[in-house]
Amino acid sequence: MGQVSSNPLYAAVDLGSTKVVAVAGHSVDDNMFEIVGLGVSPTGTALRNGTIIGVPQAVAAINRAVDQAQRMAGRPLRNVIVGFAGGEVVGMDQRVTIALRDREVQPSDIEKVLQEARSMVNRPASEILHVIPKSYTIDDLANIPNPVGMVGARLEAHVHVIRGSDMVIANLKRTIERSGLVLREGDLVLQPLAAARVLLTEDDKELGVAVVDIGGGTTNLAVFVNGALAAIRIFPYGGINMTKDLAIVLQVSQDEAERIKIEALGRSVLPDAGETPETLSPGPSPEQSAQVMDVVEARLAEILGIVARELREMRLENRLQRGVVLTGGVVGMPKMIPFAQKILSPLHVTVGSVRPRIQGLVERALQPEFSSAIGLLYYARDHWDLIIEEESEGSPSGKGAERQKEKKMSGSSRLLNWFREII
Ligand SMILES: Nc1ncnc2c1ncn2[C@@H]1O[C@H](COP(=O)(O)OP(=O)(O)OP(=O)(O)O)[C@@H](O)[C@H]1O
Ligand SMILES: [Mg+2]
Repeated sequence: MGQVSSNPLYAAVDLGSTKVVAVAGHSVDDNMFEIVGLGVSPTGTALRNGTIIGVPQAVAAINRAVDQAQRMAGRPLRNVIVGFAGGEVVGMDQRVTIALRDREVQPSDIEKVLQEARSMVNRPASEILHVIPKSYTIDDLANIPNPVGMVGARLEAHVHVIRGSDMVIANLKRTIERSGLVLREGDLVLQPLAAARVLLTEDDKELGVAVVDIGGGTTNLAVFVNGALAAIRIFPYGGINMTKDLAIVLQVSQDEAERIKIEALGRSVLPDAGETPETLSPGPSPEQSAQVMDVVEARLAEILGIVARELREMRLENRLQRGVVLTGGVVGMPKMIPFAQKILSPLHVTVGSVRPRIQGLVERALQPEFSSAIGLLYYARDHWDLIIEEESEGSPSGKGAERQKEKKMSGSSRLLNWFREII
């Protein structure tokens, strides 16, 4: 198996509404990945608002992207973690209690409560995408991040369960399989969680922050307060809507409108932390640029307005001391920060950057449209380490098992660390 070799290669496929990204990289340390392969292929009509609507076209796009990435990496990619944002996604808080009877909390108790939370949702197991522990309560002591080793009469877990739509997930899995890739259980990740994984620090999450990924066909929102996920939303709007509006205003085809839009706004360039990317090319005439800017800003105002309203309705806007971190292809446009700042005020607005979290020769990967793909690699490392440990349990001897033992000690995610302690 690829990732058990001396330097595990992690691989991810990010299914966007406008493009498929395949990325491969080695973990350097907890906060650094070396990117060794990046493949990008347009999805054409294969996806609509993040949902697959054409399996053969999606398979072809995935194969092209994966092929590019594995050629660069010099190694075949087979196991992948897959990011998507499509269909109905519902997150809900659950509370689960188990009796401890004054014995110590074991990692197996954590597993048990998470499993219980899963079954309480009362939906087919295949619909459940993420079960995320938020905090624990032992008897009357609340807000315990990791209760393992503590004693008490009762353990209560506060868990966020996210489910998606059965049909959307089934088609996704089928498409990945038909692309010749292997998707294991739990390897399907919602894009906003992936972007958050690489763009946010523990501090950001503790102080309260919202990640907003404005892509082609979707705008994704993930909100963190008190160090835990508070909400996740997927809105079916993005850059494609801007292009459609422009096609109507200019009376041209959508392809032409997209070309004019990008020419006027510039390809997204590498943002340094907190800076607005600037335009690269001088673009078309000033009048046409102004027209493009008007159309794009009108849509952007609407999209950011939806985000602001949602934050207000969830009563979370006052709890975001770190404000809003923007990412996704659309944030490459000029004057993004001041414009977003006006609409989201008083929340502080920045553009996220993966720069501190990746190295390697792939400069392009620094662009905001690749944040979720890079985040998936981090997610893969958290998750695959766990899977490998489970698999190596059956064969406790040998070099692979030894290496996994060493890997366990390096530690990557809080949740996984709890499991590691028992294995
Ligand atoms: N400089 C720019 N200014 C404005 N929009 C841009 C710029 N560069 C790219 N875009 C737009 O960003 C969109 C693509 O963004 P991204 O690559 O993040 O989407 P995606 O991941 O394919 O889709 P999604 O995440 O919504 O499923 C396109 O609509 C494109 O026109
Ligand atoms: Mg995307």
